[in-house]
Amino acid sequence: MNRRRFLKTGAAAAASILAGPRLAFAADTEIVISPGDAGAVISPHLYGHFIEHLGGVIYDGVWVGRDSSIPNVDGIRKQFVDDMKRIGAPNLRWPGGCFADGYHWRDGIGKASARPRTYNFWQRRMPAGLDATESNQFGVHEFMHLCRLIGAEPYVAANVGSGTPSEFHDWVSYCNAPTGTLSLAEERAANGDPQPFGIRYWGVGNESWGCGGTMRPEEYATKYRQFITQFPNYTDPFLVATGPRGHSADGDIGWTTGFFDAMRGYEPPQGFSLHFYTDLRPTPIKAGDFKASEWYEVLLRGVRLEKVINDHWREMGKFDAAHRTKLVIDEWGVWYAPGSEITPAYILSETITLRDAIHTGMTFDIFNRHADKIAMANVAQSVNCIHSLFLAQGEKFVRTPVYHVFDMYRSHMGARQVPVSNPVADLNVPALAGQAHLPGLSASASIRDRRLTVTLTNPSLESALPLRVRFANGARATEARASVLTHSDMRATNSFTDIEEVKPAKHLVRVVADGLELTVPTHAVVLVECAIA
Ligand code: AHR
Repeated sequence: MNRRRFLKTGAAAAASILAGPRLAFAADTEIVISPGDAGAVISPHLYGHFIEHLGGVIYDGVWVGRDSSIPNVDGIRKQFVDDMKRIGAPNLRWPGGCFADGYHWRDGIGKASARPRTYNFWQRRMPAGLDATESNQFGVHEFMHLCRLIGAEPYVAANVGSGTPSEFHDWVSYCNAPTGTLSLAEERAANGDPQPFGIRYWGVGNESWGCGGTMRPEEYATKYRQFITQFPNYTDPFLVATGPRGHSADGDIGWTTGFFDAMRGYEPPQGFSLHFYTDLRPTPIKAGDFKASEWYEVLLRGVRLEKVINDHWREMGKFDAAHRTKLVIDEWGVWYAPGSEITPAYILSETITLRDAIHTGMTFDIFNRHADKIAMANVAQSVNCIHSLFLAQGEKFVRTPVYHVFDMYRSHMGARQVPVSNPVADLNVPALAGQAHLPGLSASASIRDRRLTVTLTNPSLESALPLRVRFANGARATEARASVLTHSDMRATNSFTDIEEVKPAKHLVRVVADGLELTVPTHAVVLVECAIA
């Protein structure tokens, strides 16, 4: 597999060094960044999170209980809070996922010892002899305390599949009505929270085409309207309608067409959920042990997301040219077949390797480049699950390689997207069905207060990429620093016994007259931050 070369597009040869040692540098690859042409704000919410009552996500991952010897804040795992704060987690989606459409919020309030034990949707996936009964020890108050500790905006998925509009409205009122108004507000106060929760983001169901009710799009559109027409307006709501299963072979455009067609003449939702899993479950590809073709297969499937975003956005535009409805990619991640669970009861937990970190970098670059279309995105799921940032079991806790990519991309959050002209040729790579084309370099950039952030991912296992970054229209960097996430082993991971095997390191970047020079190593994510004059 060779990296095909391309012709330089600018005056790269004229560069002179302003800072940094002059080492032999043979970049014939140039990307052009235009800091003066900043576009859409990259909503911090694109770097969002998701936790579900599933396997070891809530119980053990997040909630260890007030009497636990594991360091906790009122029952919530302290390390989880600290690390989520550190990466500036902007939001948290809860309680599911498929769990949401079987969840009745009243089961999770009131005295903990009096809460009922209830059926959990995920019982059906538990290995024989293991029980998924929901204890309801983590309910809406505990969730809101977690959000407040982190500083994350709550995003609650309501039960449409087995609930009623009335149950939904009571839940919204319970959360958002000021005390002194509704009895439900007094009840919330009696349960410990006089201040309204002020929840703006509500998902009206989840995967209503599947576990959320196996509905057709027009049936769901009717339900959606029934659920939202009497919505108690205590906050300026952001309602998210169920959208397509974007990783379906056909991208599931039919759902989008059917929903918006059935919504003609009605108020459109603010958000339209798009789920996109890099779904390896039907393949022999394993989470922790794989060969080169399986490395590339995962990345090839992951970058399909860009086409899926464009396709659905175009379809939505046919019904709403002003694009009042934005995409909410509230579940995304690499989903492997079972086999690498932390422990059998923690269903859907996976080994997370450098491959998943590279996938994350490429995904975030897609989000950044489409920041005008996407209001929110939520990794599935933050801990002990698919594509997790953290694995936790009792006293043991580890940050996965994916965590480090979230950390590296932080400064894109809330900055304005900057165009990157990226003419790097595709790689011709081995994949499951033979040779295929994968972008040779993934890139995105953003600017805030003259601080430019550039993220670059080289998916190649074979060729490092010496790169010139040229700034358009005479922009100059006055200083720059870089870091890199990579490892000599493509299968590298962080485990409970080796928690820092994969972590970012400083990386060399040189400031030259009209840009930067650096090398993006093989299978690496690079972050460059610089000041622009
Ligand atoms: O994230 C795991 C599951 O994947 C969610 O519960 C569901 O919405 C999706 O199918």
